[in-house]
Amino acid sequence: MAQTWGHFFFSLLDYKTEKFVIAKNKKVGVLFRLFQLGVIGYLIGWVFIWKKGYQETEETIQSSVVTKLKGVDLTNSSQFGLQLWGAEDYVIPPQGDRVFFIVTNYLVTPNQRLGYCPESPKVPDGFCTSDSECPEGESVIAGHGVKTGRCLNDTGTCEIHAWCPVEHGKAPTEPMLAKAENFTVYVKNFIKFPKFGFSKSNVLPTSNSTYLKTCKYDKDHHPYCPIFLVGDMINWTGFHFQDLAAKGGSVGVGIEWNCNLDKDESRCNPEYSFTRLDSSDNLQHSATSGYNFRFARYYNDAAGQTFRNLFKVYGIRFDILVNGKAGKFSIIPTVINIGSGLALMGAGVFACDMILLYMMSKSSFYRETKFEAITKKSGRQRERKHGRHHGHHRHDRRHKKEDKPSSEVDALTSVSVQGNNPERPENQAKSHSPERKPHASVSFRTPHSSGKHTISPTSTLRTQRNQ
Ligand SMILES: *[C@@H]1O[C@H](CO)[C@@H](O)[C@H](O)[C@H]1NC(C)=O
Repeated sequence: MAQTWGHFFFSLLDYKTEKFVIAKNKKVGVLFRLFQLGVIGYLIGWVFIWKKGYQETEETIQSSVVTKLKGVDLTNSSQFGLQLWGAEDYVIPPQGDRVFFIVTNYLVTPNQRLGYCPESPKVPDGFCTSDSECPEGESVIAGHGVKTGRCLNDTGTCEIHAWCPVEHGKAPTEPMLAKAENFTVYVKNFIKFPKFGFSKSNVLPTSNSTYLKTCKYDKDHHPYCPIFLVGDMINWTGFHFQDLAAKGGSVGVGIEWNCNLDKDESRCNPEYSFTRLDSSDNLQHSATSGYNFRFARYYNDAAGQTFRNLFKVYGIRFDILVNGKAGKFSIIPTVINIGSGLALMGAGVFACDMILLYMMSKSSFYRETKFEAITKKSGRQRERKHGRHHGHHRHDRRHKKEDKPSSEVDALTSVSVQGNNPERPENQAKSHSPERKPHASVSFRTPHSSGKHTISPTSTLRTQRNQ
């Protein structure tokens, strides 16, 4: 028992190397080389050069966006007269957010006061033919006020307690703030890749102090100018300012940071993209097109009474979406990618083996040569069947024994000498079984014997059992 363990531990110190069978088959050979070439091409071309598999990447980008709009427009409406719109009026909310709305068109209902007036004929729940259809205290569903119990004959709607008069009419079909096309948006974007401790802004340092006051973003001429014309931004989505301005719409501005931090910091720059977010094929006629909402401005008159101006505003909503990823060389992904490439080579070995051993016309020959069943029984049978002199070709595996300690070799030799005819010339043995050529008969010199000896199956098996 102790001896067995001793052998086991000694055998741990042995280095085992694989032995290969070379199949002289050009078809499978070429196939395998092509596969290897493919894997190498994939690894170098796609994984390393194209996908930058040698880099560690970071896809979480921390970013902050600040916007500022500039431009004014003067509007003139029949109910409301002249009105000057500055950025503080048309940008909602005004604090310079990542998402902002620009008023391009509006419908105003000036001087609304709390009182009694007929419900708008646009509200279905407001229709009536008699007072009983307007129960007092009930609010109009999707309407403007609370029913008072009276049905007004001249409009055919209930009387309501509300901000009067209620809104009526439609927004102009031409945008009121046509000059919004020439408003400018200044986008400041600060980003950080926390893993690499890298931060940058889209406002690049420039020695020219007036550059930021005069430049306009242009994909070709000023790709890093952070100031955009509203009209241009909409044109780049493939729509026209007029399409969106009258009914409203939504535009996404993408800022993409793709940074290769192995290169210089100055090559890490943002790329802008523009898309219309509320688009669909039948947009012009669908109820979902456009974007509007209402707000009111409240005032007190000289008598202390409150009145308000109600605005229904149409406009363009901008969403600024920041995306990015950064990559930097790292040893771990490099090793992993090389490892998986090598594993793929293994798949090629498997596939070529399958083809060679099962799909070629001479597959059975290759199978016979490659696989060797060693069982106690078959070993003896074979020996009996083929006679002693044939047995010694079959044990190519025993090459390994060459570097065994000399005492073991002694044991082997002593057995094999009994079972073999040492005088038998080797080449003669070979000529007996040409199909065994790849497995040259095994022979070696042992320190204690002068001649060459070959091993028979029985002898090796016996030694194996002895171990
Ligand atoms: C916007 O500016 C351009 C050039 O400055 C001008 O030609 C155009 O008329 C302006 N658009 C509007 C609606 O004012």
